[in-house]
Amino acid sequence: MEKKSILITGGAGFIGSHVVRLFVNKYPNYQIINFDKLTYAGNLENLNDVDKASNYHFVKGDILDEAAVEETFDKYQINAVIHLAAESHVDRSITNPLEFIQTNVIGTANVMNVAKCKWENDFSDKRFYHVSTDEVYGSLGATGYFTEETPYDPRSPYSSSKASSDHLVRAYYHTYGFPMVISNCSNNYGANQFPEKLIPLFIHNIKQEKALPVYGKGDNVRDWLWVNDHADAIDVIFHEGKDGETYNIGGNNEWQNIDLIKALCKIMDDKLGRVSGSSEQLISYVKDRDGHDKRYAIDSSKLKNELGWSPSIEFDQGLVNTVDWYLNNEDWLNSVTSGDYQKYYNQQYNER
Ligand code: NAD
Ligand code: TYD
Repeated sequence: MEKKSILITGGAGFIGSHVVRLFVNKYPNYQIINFDKLTYAGNLENLNDVDKASNYHFVKGDILDEAAVEETFDKYQINAVIHLAAESHVDRSITNPLEFIQTNVIGTANVMNVAKCKWENDFSDKRFYHVSTDEVYGSLGATGYFTEETPYDPRSPYSSSKASSDHLVRAYYHTYGFPMVISNCSNNYGANQFPEKLIPLFIHNIKQEKALPVYGKGDNVRDWLWVNDHADAIDVIFHEGKDGETYNIGGNNEWQNIDLIKALCKIMDDKLGRVSGSSEQLISYVKDRDGHDKRYAIDSSKLKNELGWSPSIEFDQGLVNTVDWYLNNEDWLNSVTSGDYQKYYNQQYNER
């Protein structure tokens, strides 16, 4: 399949925009079609360095809209999909679970079913890549890792909706021979992440000298991966992964939230020329997230051993680069935090 025409759903979001940029620049002979509804999390400014490229096309559309997806398949003769469009924030899923079920479960089923119908006569040289999360595996205790064999045990509306979509995608493989591949990745960080997730939210608050709302005791553990490394892994799996397979992607980089927050405070003090220790004063322990998963940790040895991927950057450096990006892109931060952001923030944090 030399001439690929790839539908990337959710390409205006955080991870999607890095995947779009990578593919547009690295594969000039591919057509990249970014299909995105532009929800609060989607932002075309994330792509203003590639949106003039002749192999890039944007379609504003909803993955729940079957006719719009079909039309896009026909217009661009889509022969591969990298599916990232989703509602992605756990806290929002606790407040509004049905929206997650609609977008993540029904939306995925819809895009996949259009692909199946359009490709029905010939699955050779086709690929449906479903981008998922390690959160489908549930919550770990102090030891152990998620492998591709770990039984699913999702515990939030977000992770359950992603788990449901993973099951549907695998069911299409087993039932129809549908040419799918799935990856389950750990927490991403980097440029262009919406400031509702831990790292950009705390950078934003430190900058404004606002309280840093640490859920519970701050002892939950996450495994952080630089978003560009996730995009590279998606590139490798898209091209080299085997149909029907699942690949875990992780940074082998576990941090307790409170330790990560303190490291971030130190970097911010340094970058902003503030007295050492001043940002830590902003830490405020608040009511825990309902059903808060304790620990995520990924074993990504299958991807390393079979496809030769590994993370390119150490976390210390990645975190400094990320802080630099947010400090150098004030306009981006200001534009995404105007509008409905304040309403969300007040609802989410004022009563904690
Ligand atoms: P994001 O919230 O930043 O972006 C989601 C994008 O999807 C946005 O551009 C939004 O406009 C679009 N979208 C939402 N609903 C849509 C719809 N109905 N139709 C079309 N477009 C729609 O999310 P993200 O953090 O970039 O995550 C992307 C994918 O990666 C998701 O599937 C998520 O589950 C998965 N993932 C994320 C992480 C992480 O740490 N952020 C880790 C592992 C996996
Ligand atoms: P988040 O970035 O929302 O990712 P996820 O819940 O998908 O892992 O949160 C990362 C960790 O930080 C998680 O343990 C929850 C915690 N957290 C806070 O303590 N305060 C906050 O304001 C947010 C958004 C998250």
